[in-house]
Amino acid sequence: MNRIIIFDTTLRDGEQAPGASMNTFQKLEVASQLEKLGVDIIEAGFPVASPGDFAAVSAVAKLIKKCGVCALARCIYKDIEHAGKSLKKARAPRIHLFLATSKIHLRYKFKKAEEEIEVIARDSIRHAKKFCSDIEFSPEDATRTEKGFLFRMIEMAIKEGAATINIPDTVGYSYPQEIYSLVSDIKENVPNINKAVISIHCHDDLGLSTANSLSAILAGARQAHCTINGIGERAGNASLEEVVMAMKTRKDVFGDFYNNIHTREIYRASRLVSNLTNFVVPPNKAIVGRNAFAHESGIHQDAILKKRITYEIMDPRDVGIAESRLILGKHSGRHAFRDRLNFLGFHLNDEQLNKAFERFKEVADRKKDIFDDDLRIIVEDEMREEKPVWQLASFTVNSGTQVKPKASVVLKKKSQTLKGESTGDGPVDACFKAIDRIIKQKVKLEDFRLEAVTSGKDALGHASLKLKVKMRDAVGHGSSTDIIEAAVRAYLDAINKIESK
Ligand code: KIV
Ligand code: ZN
Repeated sequence: MNRIIIFDTTLRDGEQAPGASMNTFQKLEVASQLEKLGVDIIEAGFPVASPGDFAAVSAVAKLIKKCGVCALARCIYKDIEHAGKSLKKARAPRIHLFLATSKIHLRYKFKKAEEEIEVIARDSIRHAKKFCSDIEFSPEDATRTEKGFLFRMIEMAIKEGAATINIPDTVGYSYPQEIYSLVSDIKENVPNINKAVISIHCHDDLGLSTANSLSAILAGARQAHCTINGIGERAGNASLEEVVMAMKTRKDVFGDFYNNIHTREIYRASRLVSNLTNFVVPPNKAIVGRNAFAHESGIHQDAILKKRITYEIMDPRDVGIAESRLILGKHSGRHAFRDRLNFLGFHLNDEQLNKAFERFKEVADRKKDIFDDDLRIIVEDEMREEKPVWQLASFTVNSGTQVKPKASVVLKKKSQTLKGESTGDGPVDACFKAIDRIIKQKVKLEDFRLEAVTSGKDALGHASLKLKVKMRDAVGHGSSTDIIEAAVRAYLDAINKIESK
């Protein structure tokens, strides 16, 4: 059986999606979940890009024990040195070097000839080898590169010691048959190809990234680059959950292959990445969308009750989605609560469990049914390790059609209790302004979203927002059955992150 190496680039290419940036704490949370998920390699970032990225890659390298950690570098000495240093504490480090090889990039981006590009790549691989024995090389825009030059570059990279050759479909231009031929041609025309692993990196500009990745595997690629929820530059990257579940579900086609992914951790990874990046997963998204295992039509429901496989090709439990959605309410005890959390993949210590249970009871008092997604939000909120500087004590708002909205907010900071009042353009705005008065900061709200976590009039509302205070920004999350409270919690969450930076 052939093993397919799953290379996760959520923290690098995924983070390149406009607006998806994560701080070090958030990257560590995602990296831990990727480790649980069983990915083989985590591409943790692009260390030369910023001090924050360098710190995040170093922190991930130090934390992660069960998988390799990779850092991206252009074929520039400074990039390579930053990547090498950031990986110092990694158990299994890898430097991923990339350099464009297509005529379009050579002519317009570099204004260089093929020969010059070859020399730069050769030098860079040699330099990278001084920092790390495991090198992956990507001829960027490989799918639009003239084949003769591509084969030459690959042969050279392997000769210089690159153990993995990644084939990026950088602009998502290719289609499955073409990718199949390209990988087959590489196998046939690069004399030393057996000394390296062929990898595939597909973008979704034409919605073909998963199909292209699977096609590459059938042709001989043994590593696939993926991201959780398919987030990534522009239209995104091949989504890990789709590639992995296609391999698992279509055993008739992919029976000769296996990977090490614990698929029951998929849904949890998806929710975590969505919450931390502020990227809402479309309801109809394959595998992890809210509707992926929901059945609306009577005919379907009837058939499903008779035999699930009539309309479901996968068992939702295989991706960590419980079949029964209605689970807990205010009469449930701690035991049932812990049981359900264990099923969902959360293993809390006693202190975390107590805090989460308290919060659960608060929510259950206001909300009749607690669904799995409600629980996930409650627990993820309580498991965050950062100690909040500001805590919400209480708030009141007065708003309506005939009055100017007015809010009064009480916050706690250590033993101090502080109160702020303000009017605003709406009740949420009035609360935010009241908080600004307490913390005495000029806060810029850059993004604000409210979403119902589950359905029904008493649904738990989840607020996500992005704030900027002076030059620092942070994403905040908050949830409550009261949407104003959810917004206030999210606002404080972001402020606390900025203060703790
Ligand atoms: O899409 C791309 O070409 C990349 C490279 C850095 C591999 O992300
Ligand atoms: Zn990419």
